Formats: sequence, structure tokens, C-alpha cells
Amino acid sequence: MSVRINPSILSADFVNFQREFDSIASADLIHVDVMDGHFVPNLTFGLPMVARMQQIAPVPLDIHLMIENVDRWAPDYAETGAYSVTFHAEATEQPVALARKLRAIGSRVGIALKPGTDLDDYLEILDEFDQLLVMTVEPGFGGQALIESTLSKVSRAKRRIDQEKLSVWLQVDGGIDENNIERVASLGADTFVAGSAVFKNPDRASQIAALRSAAERGHSHFH
Ligand code: DX5
Ligand code: ZN
Repeated sequence: MSVRINPSILSADFVNFQREFDSIASADLIHVDVMDGHFVPNLTFGLPMVARMQQIAPVPLDIHLMIENVDRWAPDYAETGAYSVTFHAEATEQPVALARKLRAIGSRVGIALKPGTDLDDYLEILDEFDQLLVMTVEPGFGGQALIESTLSKVSRAKRRIDQEKLSVWLQVDGGIDENNIERVASLGADTFVAGSAVFKNPDRASQIAALRSAAERGHSHFH
């Protein structure tokens, strides 16, 4: 099981993205949090910024849409050539139709669940996705503490992915750091978003390496 470390640029310096991107070139993907001030009470950046980021990023972008009207907007993000576009289950009535549309455009597609959203409703349609994002904090802000009760979704999703032999990446986002990543990996998560845990360290490459080796240790005790 391979480990992916995706730093979230929500914790980066927003007026120096070129420099910030270069400092995390050893990441697997760069996690880009798009927030509209409606789906979540915070506002980041939109389509033109993301399209431009794509041109300067050293690794592919993992776009996390925390916006309303995903049926209208998510395809435009895929059209920028995005490697991966994840939308929230709570933001659409037709997750499968939207997933198929995004895959047809050519991007990987993810579905994200807020802490209060039940996993059971989505287990049946997991094969329509390339990634399941289990939010381990309430979406909206970086630097929050991981909500322990969300982790049972990670274990249950992992069981389903293995049972059905799905090739779905299991992503966790929110409050992931060097103290808990090993344990979260041991539950079966393979793709780790880390915002504050990466950007707080001026030596991002060594922080990414430390997170990666802790996650790999967690996988070695996965049973
Ligand atoms: C929160 C975002 C996260 C955020 C994580 O709504 O989706 O990607 O940047 O930040 P940390 O790792 O600091 O909790
Ligand atoms: Zn995110």
C-alpha cells in the first residue's frame, strides 16, 4: 500500500505560491482548498487561480472543492486539466452523474464527507470514485484538532475497499500531524493531507519525509 503526502496550501503564504510550491516539491500532490464562503464560512480562491497554479506546480494538484453548486462548477475545474477533483457529497443530489462527467473530462474524481455525514449512504457507489476523502475536521479552516469520532469511517471504508477490491484512494484531511499520522495510517488511510503540520516547519522537505515514514510505519501494522 503506497503512502501519499499532500500538503495543503491553505497554510501557505498566499502571495508567494511559486516559492511555497517549490518548497514542497517532494510531496506526492499539492492539496488545493477551494472555498466559496457559502458551503464553508471561509473564502480562498477560484478557477483562474487554480488554472494558473497548475502551470507552476511541481507535482499534480489534488483539488478539494468546498463550494456549493458543484454540478455547475466542478466540471470547469476538471477542464483546467486538473489531475484530481474532489467534491462534497453534501453539495450535490447526483454524485454519480457528476463523477462520471468528471472522469469523462479526464480527471480523477473524489467524494468528500463532512464529519457528520454518514458513510453508509456512499459505500454502494464507491466504485464510481478514485478517492474517498474522510474529513477529520469540520471543513473551513486549517490548524484544527482532529475529531477522533471520524476515524471509524476510515476503518469501515478501508474494509469495504479491500472486500470489493476497489482501487479507491482513502484520504484524510484535517488535523493530521506527526503525532497521529501513524495511527491513522494503521486504520487504512493511504493519502494524507497536512496543512499546518507541513508549513509550520521551515524545512518542508524534512517534514514531508517525517510524515511519510510515520505513515509507512502505520501501514506496516495494518491488519
Ligand atoms: C480544511 C481543509 C484542509 C486544511 C487542513 O477545511 O480542507 O485541507 O488545510 O489543514 P490542517 O492540516 O492544518 O488541519
Ligand atoms: Zn482540504
